[in-house]
Amino acid sequence: MYINCTDKELFILEKIALAAQKIQVPCYLIGGFVRDKILGRNTKDMDVVCVGDGITLAHEVAMLFKPIPEVHFFKNFGTAQIKVDDLEIEFVGARKESYDFNSRKPAVETGTLQDDQNRRDFTINALAISLNKADYGALVDPFNGIADLEIKNLQTPLAPGITFSDDPLRMMRAIRFATQLNFTIEEKTLAAIGENAHRIKIVSGERIADELNKIVLATTPSIGFDLLYKTGLLKIIFPQMVALAGAEYVDGMGHKDNFYHTLQVLDNIARNTNDLWLRWAAILHDIAKPATKRFEEGHGWTFHGHEALGGKWVPKIFAQLKLPQNEKMKFVRKLVEMHLRPISLTKENITDSAIRRLLVDAGEDFDALMTLCAADITSKNKQKVQRFLNNFEIVRKRCAEVEESDHLRNWQPPITGEIIMQTFNLPPSRKVGDIKTAIRDAILDGVIPNEYEAAFAYMLQKGQEFGISN
Ligand code: CTP
Repeated sequence: MYINCTDKELFILEKIALAAQKIQVPCYLIGGFVRDKILGRNTKDMDVVCVGDGITLAHEVAMLFKPIPEVHFFKNFGTAQIKVDDLEIEFVGARKESYDFNSRKPAVETGTLQDDQNRRDFTINALAISLNKADYGALVDPFNGIADLEIKNLQTPLAPGITFSDDPLRMMRAIRFATQLNFTIEEKTLAAIGENAHRIKIVSGERIADELNKIVLATTPSIGFDLLYKTGLLKIIFPQMVALAGAEYVDGMGHKDNFYHTLQVLDNIARNTNDLWLRWAAILHDIAKPATKRFEEGHGWTFHGHEALGGKWVPKIFAQLKLPQNEKMKFVRKLVEMHLRPISLTKENITDSAIRRLLVDAGEDFDALMTLCAADITSKNKQKVQRFLNNFEIVRKRCAEVEESDHLRNWQPPITGEIIMQTFNLPPSRKVGDIKTAIRDAILDGVIPNEYEAAFAYMLQKGQEFGISN
């Protein structure tokens, strides 16, 4: 066997070979599984191509396992899937394909193995391993994909314009593989992405989001975003991010290029978290800077309110990018809105009250917020970065001290709205909210201790001030 497989994988491959031999169809392991085995990456799904009917082969293979796995098949595409333990095996008949120009739906015609390899996306994904008796385990590599794996090169088997025009999602895949594997996209292939970028519009938003998320989760996601930007794809799928690019100058005073700053923040955060949504918060933290940019005489460039406006944009951007409209989106929104708060505390004499407010407002997302803020410290000047990081560490320490003494992380004020309503015999109303806020502020400012009796007495006092009696 050309590739190193586990005993379990070998066992499965032998069964597939047996079934194929029985119905006399040549068959091959192909695609990502072969590529990842050679690269020494973790592999998951197996793709099997046969010169014949993939659905029939899947049924034959299934019968060799106990219990017999269910065969899921898609007649129109001639594909079938079975699951053995946690491994998904996909079967397809070799195809000679031409795609309908206006959709991703291929017009399928049966073909040879070489036809099938021709129509795959990249040479490194067209590598096949024979599962046939005559040359079991041999590599079939008509485009020298092995050499491309060695020199870390991504190129298409056919002329790139044809491959991308057949299926424009492959442009995103090229950039995703370049990012994940740290490969270079060959010159003509890269140029073809630029030329065909507009065709990404026929691809569904969900498929684009899948690729985008894989880029976001890579070790160095900036590689992908830079390529998306330079090829023109980003402008089509996420124009707000492109608007961050460039620096403007007035009276010789410029501001930083917020696109490259954002990419730096994203790479920084990627070193500290694999949380997709925290990484999205890094991508979006400055998204409203272009919309809030002003040049103030004698002061320079300002972006007042970009965090609030950016937060407000998050639901719309998530919808546009087909990202979920759920608590993940709310988390990203909260982080974008709050991303200046910890940093602002490095600039003033930090009072316990300011620290308490940060802890309470960030709540369970405090650690995530601090991770985002630390990643946001970027500058060409290394000393400046170090100074900021040191100050930031002081804030972090103070937060830990205050948290230890006050336990405010998941804090709820000891007096609830219910208690206020009962005490003053009030219906739900603005007054109830005002009293609740007054108690909360008094505790956070250290005017009263964080205890029920003190808060109750304070509530009565506030009631009197507001002209309501119990
Ligand atoms: N493929 C293709 N064009 C696409 C999608 C897939 O040619 N738009 C082919 C490639 O040969 C690929 C194989 O189908 O290797 C399997 O596709 P898929 O499972 O989506 O990707 P993998 O290459 O396995 O990589 P990953 O699992 O990382 O997505």
